[in-house]
This record gives sequence, structure tokens and C-alpha cells, in this order.
Amino acid sequence: MDKIVIEGGRPLHGEIAISGAKNAALPLITATILAPGPHVLHNVPDLRDTRTMLALLESFGITWKRDGETLTIDASNLDNVEASYELVKTMRASVLVLGPLLARAGRARVSLPGGCAIGARPINFHLQGLSQLGIQYELDQGYVDAGIKGRLQGGTVYFDIPSVTGTENILMAATLANGTTVIKNAAKEPEVGNLIDMLVSMGARIKGRDSETIVVEGVKKLKGAKATIIPDRIETGTFLIAAGAAGGELTLTHCNPKLLPALPEKLRAAGLVIKEEKNRMHVLRKKGALRSVDVKTMPYPGFATDLQAQIMALMTMADGLSVITETIFENRFMHVAELRRMGADIRIDGHSAIVTGTGKLSGAPVMATDLRASASLVVAGLAAEGVTEISRVYHLDRGYDDLVGKLSMVGARIRREKE
Ligand code: EPZ
Repeated sequence: MDKIVIEGGRPLHGEIAISGAKNAALPLITATILAPGPHVLHNVPDLRDTRTMLALLESFGITWKRDGETLTIDASNLDNVEASYELVKTMRASVLVLGPLLARAGRARVSLPGGCAIGARPINFHLQGLSQLGIQYELDQGYVDAGIKGRLQGGTVYFDIPSVTGTENILMAATLANGTTVIKNAAKEPEVGNLIDMLVSMGARIKGRDSETIVVEGVKKLKGAKATIIPDRIETGTFLIAAGAAGGELTLTHCNPKLLPALPEKLRAAGLVIKEEKNRMHVLRKKGALRSVDVKTMPYPGFATDLQAQIMALMTMADGLSVITETIFENRFMHVAELRRMGADIRIDGHSAIVTGTGKLSGAPVMATDLRASASLVVAGLAAEGVTEISRVYHLDRGYDDLVGKLSMVGARIRREKE
């Protein structure tokens, strides 16, 4: 296993190109199962999770080739519909193959993903939604064994919580159903919109993009897709926060400021200067203390839960008290214990973390527990006095394409070593 070593206290200066969004690439890769293709996806990030998803599709008989950021996928051969525990246990988003496999082949046997560090992460909404489309399923030795005789039937699916991958799974299944499907209380994250654009390019009939009610008119078959993955709004936010923590100024290119409706205002309130252009963002950390801000994570367009750990790291250095409330996941404070090791003053009270800014952090050996917790430890390490060693960085590799290389290019003293 590798570790990351950071010598903190060096301001960042320069330009970073943002990669394609992990949470768009994953559903768009699975959507290629819906039709033989060939499919062409542009701006696909090269991440541990995208490699896992491609390995999963390969296990179904699907072939692909990568040329830089462009993926060409040929799904004409689908001779297996079982997603093994070996692959699924490393990536919960594997559940996204359920809808497409059922729509294309009428059968799917997908391992239950199991829990993860940030919560139980059940898939009941996915299964309830698919049942509304006529799917029968049973749980068998840790697998969901699902099937339908003939085509899926259009129906109405209501989500108690606007589940992102739940919406994506039902959306994909509904494109080939017989009749109309209405998805109510659907997720409005930009990655869902990116998937809708791709499905429409394949011939799907979908209304209600970016709204909480999506209507899908099923069609008999779909054609090969041409789609471009949207910029990663969470990578963008992570670098904006990193510049706030380390000091200096950064220009982020190949990004889309419109995908970040909440974070810039919070960072401006904390004292950063943020400028937004069409596909660039500039961030400047002015001299003087950061101001504390309160944060509450909400479904899009609220503050993204995937940026909660990172802004908490920033608030540990601000002047005053910051209340950070996590409303999406039940256990997404795994980074608190590690930040405390660096001198942070954080008290957890139910779903809220009360952060008392101490102005500074000290480098220490810490351990990554999940993807965004590891990003928050990098943010803290950049600002801390002394050396921070972050172990188990395979978590980071799931969602960031060459984070160490990108930060080194803008002046961070950061390197990767064998543990
Ligand atoms: C997606 O996860 C993202 N992953 C997550 O990003 C992100 O944090 C999350 O949406 C919220 O924005 C991908 O898109 C691949 P949910 P997802 O279903 O779809 C509960 C990252 O760091 N729930 O919107 O799994 C669930 O437990 C990852 O990039 C059920 O109870 O999230 C959670 O409390 C982490 N039953 C809430 O709903 C279900 O069937 C929202 O989860 C499904 C979800």
C-alpha cells in the first residue's frame, strides 16, 4: 500500500486542469450496456473506480479501448449478467449495472455491495423502483437475483430520498420499458443530467432534466452513444478549498462553475476571493485569518456532502466556531478523529461537528478511511506545520486522477511513497 507525504506550509500558485467527473463517468459507462453500440465517451477520468467499472463490464463480455480521455465501448456481446462480489465489494456504484442489465437482457445477478465507511448504504430504493417496473427479485447468498419475463413495464417510482444512483438506475431501466415511467422526487445532481443527455443521444425519450420529476417514454431499442463527461465538481471544490487552506492562488481550467452553486459563496464568506468564468475558476487566499462559516449538506443544489470533509479541514484553521451538519450519510465524520491528531478542535454532536478554529494544524501520521476523508487530510496536510503522512491512499485513487501530480505542479511539497 502507498502513503502520501506532505511538507505543509507552502502556498499554491499556478493552474490545474480539472478531470471528468467520477460520478458521471460511472453511470455513463454502465449505460452502454443498454445497446450494442459502439459508444464513444469523451473526457473520461482514469480512476480506480472507472477501471473497476470497466472490469465489471468486461466480465459481462463487453469490450472497450481507451485513447487518452476517450473511451470506445462495444457492448454487442453480452454473455454474462452476473456482477461478482469480488468486484462489487470494492465499488458500491456497481449497483448501477442492475437497471441496464435488466432492460437489455431481462436478468441480472448482482452482489449486494455491503456497507462502507460512511454508512450502511442500502439499495432498497433501487429494488423498490425496479419492482415498480415489473422486476421480480430475491436475495440469495448475498446476491440480488432479479429478472422479468419479456420487457419491463413503465410505472411510477417515488423516492423517499432523492437517491442519485437510485434515480440513475431507474432512468436507465425505463428507457427500454414498455410504456411511460414517471420518477418522482428524483435526484437533480448534474451527473443525472449528464446521463440523461447521453441516453437521449442514444434515442431515449426523456423529459424533466434537472427537475424532481422525470418522465421516460420507453422505446424498443437504443443506438450507440456519443457523450462527454462533465467536469468533476467535487475535484474542483477540493482544489478551491486546498488553495484556501494552503494559501496562494490557483486557476482551475476545464471546469464548470455552474456545477458548484453552494461552495463559492461559503468560501467568499470565509474570506477567499473566487472569480468565475465560463470554464475556469480563480481562487485567492488573502492575507489574514479565515472566517468560520456554518455548513449543512443537502441534495443538489445544496452544499455537496462530498465536500463536507474538505471544508471541515479548512474550518479547523478559521477564526471562530463553525457548525458542520451532515444530513445525507449517517457516518460521514470518519475524518474527524484524524484531523484531531493534527491538532484540530472538533466536537461531534449527533449529525453535527462543532469546529473551533485553532488557526493552525500540526503535521502528523494519519490514516485515510474513505475517499473524501482522504481528500480532507490532504487539504489539512498542505496547511499544517511540519510533515503529514497519509496511509491507505488507495481510497484517494478511487476518485482523484493524479492528485499528487496536480498539487506538485502548483508548488505543494507532496510525494507518494511505498508504506
Ligand atoms: C451518490 O451516491 C454518489 N456516488 C456519492 O458520492 C454521493 O455522496 C451521494 O450520491 C450523495 O450525493 C455516485 O454517484 C457513484 P444516494 P449514492 O443514493 O447514489 C440512502 C463520492 O465520494 N439510500 O443519493 O449511493 C443513502 O444511504 C461518493 O464520490 C437508501 O437508504 O447516494 C444515503 O443516506 C460517496 N436506500 C442517502 O439515501 C437506497 O436505496 C442518499 O444516498 C439508496 C440510498
